[in-house]
Amino acid sequence: MSGLFITFEGPEGAGKSTNLQFFAAALREAGCDPLLTREPGGTPIAEKIRGVLLSHHDEVMCSDAELLLMFAARAQHLDRLIRPALEQGQVVISDRFTDATYAYQGGGRGIATQRIAALEDWVQGSLRPDLTIVFDVPVEIGMRRARARSELDRFEVEQTAFFESVRQTYLDRAAADPGRYRVIDSSGTLDDVAEAMRPLIAQVLERWHV
Ligand code: TMP
Repeated sequence: MSGLFITFEGPEGAGKSTNLQFFAAALREAGCDPLLTREPGGTPIAEKIRGVLLSHHDEVMCSDAELLLMFAARAQHLDRLIRPALEQGQVVISDRFTDATYAYQGGGRGIATQRIAALEDWVQGSLRPDLTIVFDVPVEIGMRRARARSELDRFEVEQTAFFESVRQTYLDRAAADPGRYRVIDSSGTLDDVAEAMRPLIAQVLERWHV
């Protein structure tokens, strides 16, 4: 595959979607037109699965069903959108990907890492993001931002301990593989975050031109 696969990650209220728009606009200014997508979702079928995952139900969704639905959506997303785009040499930026599964279903729900890794290998083969930017924010600040934004979805209603674990899992994964991950403190202003992203934008453009 000749494209570049970039993922944006972080706990709730880390501002990743806003930062993604800024990042993409900077790439466009330089003549690179990235494909923007998100997880769970990104294709019509995967977006339907997203609806099931994020909405509230009368019945409790068990953790394994949640995990498998995440990977069902991902399989569809990879097959119909991500792999074809990468094969055409495109820069693909996804708002969340498998690191979110390690953080939320692993860290948050307590599913064993090996189970997630087995599904990752099955669904993705050897495909991993080239660059993962983790936007980090203390849980309290992130939750305050999320609450102010809109009605809370099925994940956002979780308790502080769940989100502490999500955040810590992201930070641990980033620390274990500094080649792939960059952590950006997003507790400050949007301008601070934009400034921190500049070197990464330059790096992506450099690799894209090769
Ligand atoms: P978002 O639009 O805030 O990114 O919402 C997606 C939600 O889905 C968010 O709460 C994190 C959650 N999620 C998981 O739990 N596991 C995953 O693998 C992905 C991609 C998202």
